[in-house]
This record gives sequence, C-alpha cells and structure tokens, in this order.
Amino acid sequence: MQTNPRQAINSALSRREFLGASMGAALLFAMGGGISCSDKAGPVQMLAALPYAESGLEPVISTKTVGLHYGKHHKGYVDKLNKLTSGTRLAGLPLEQIISATAGQPEQQAIFNNAAQAWNHDFYWRGLKPKGGGAPPAALKQKIEASFGSVEGCKKELAAAANDQFGSGWAWLVQDGERLKVTRTGNADLPLTQGLRPLLTIDVWEHAYYLDYQNRRADYVQAVIDKLIDWEFVEKNLLA
Ligand SMILES: [Fe+2]
Repeated sequence: MQTNPRQAINSALSRREFLGASMGAALLFAMGGGISCSDKAGPVQMLAALPYAESGLEPVISTKTVGLHYGKHHKGYVDKLNKLTSGTRLAGLPLEQIISATAGQPEQQAIFNNAAQAWNHDFYWRGLKPKGGGAPPAALKQKIEASFGSVEGCKKELAAAANDQFGSGWAWLVQDGERLKVTRTGNADLPLTQGLRPLLTIDVWEHAYYLDYQNRRADYVQAVIDKLIDWEFVEKNLLA
C-alpha cells in the first residue's frame, strides 16, 4: 500500500515521464500537465490548448458548456495556480511535480487543488474527441476484457462510478500493475496520489454538464461514454 504521495505519484508514472518531471522540462511529457514558460514575471503555467474546437463535442456537450468549462473553470484553476505559486520554488514547474510536492499537506491544499484541477481538466479534454466512442483498439480491448470480463462491463463500472460519486469529483479508468480498474475521486483529487496510473477520466462536477443536462448526470455520463471517449488516447496511456 502506498502511503507517501510523492512515491505513489512516481510509481504511477513511467521512468521516462518521471525523469521528464524531475528535470522540470519546459515541455511536458505526453501524459499531460500544462506547458510552462518564462516571462518577466517569472515562469508560469500556460493553459493547454483544447485538442478540438469548442463546438467539437456537439451535440453531446454544447459549445456553450465547453466554452465556459474550458475558458472559465479550467482557465481559472491555471490562473489561480500561477497566483498562488508566483515567486515560489513551485512557479512554472510541471504540474506533476507541484502535485507531488503538495499532496497530503494541509497547508498546501490550495496549491494542490488548483494544480490537480489543471491536470485533471487537461486529461479530461484529451480523453474525448469529436465522434468518439465505439470500440477500443484490439490490444486495449484485450486488457479491458481481462480485467472487466467485457468492454460493456467496463463501461458499466465507469458509469456507476461517475453516477455514484457524491458531489463534485471525477470517475477514472486506471492501470494498477497488470490490471485495469475503475475508481473515483472527490473534488480535485486524482489517482496519481494513490499510485494508480490514469488512463481516462470523466468530470462529474456540475459545471461539466448542468447547462446541457441539468440534474441528469447519468444521461451526460452515458453520452460521454458512448459517443466521446477517445479509446486511442486511453491505449496510449497504458504502461507496457
Ligand atoms: Fe470541470
């Protein structure tokens, strides 16, 4: 059982990713995080670009929801993180490093929350694509079947986790060694702090769906699973 968040996060990343984060690379590795850069005020996190147009997830998620979710909520976490870390040793570091340095420390909770939310949102956007859904690629399908019995079984567990999360949070497909699992986290928390490698996430904060689905979270979740998941992205995140 992982008890130290830093060790847990490092164990969930590949050696290449770990080295990338440890070196404070300006450009983050494929799995995520924002891009940091320097200006006169010092290094800052930049809001990573959406991988599609704001209208790209229509009709499952409206342009208005994506515009607000990305342009206000996601951007808000990045801006707040820059404010909180300005002039500190954490300014502009890869998000994984900031998360690792602040997880489990009550006095650093605000920085952790905003760094984790910046990471979670970037990961969420990249796990979806216009006209997504459908069947996972063969190698991933095999892994899913070994862990859940069937792709349908995996989707059902994912939907249940998303629907059962009380209040704000995230549902996740994760890799835990050889097995794939479904898990959920509350508020800003993420599986990296438990040593689990994220493969996909669904945002179940109300801001993700309320304009389009009001209180019908289950309809949003099912539509995302059936029509938006980018299974190639999920497969790319698998650790060999
Ligand atoms: Fe969100």
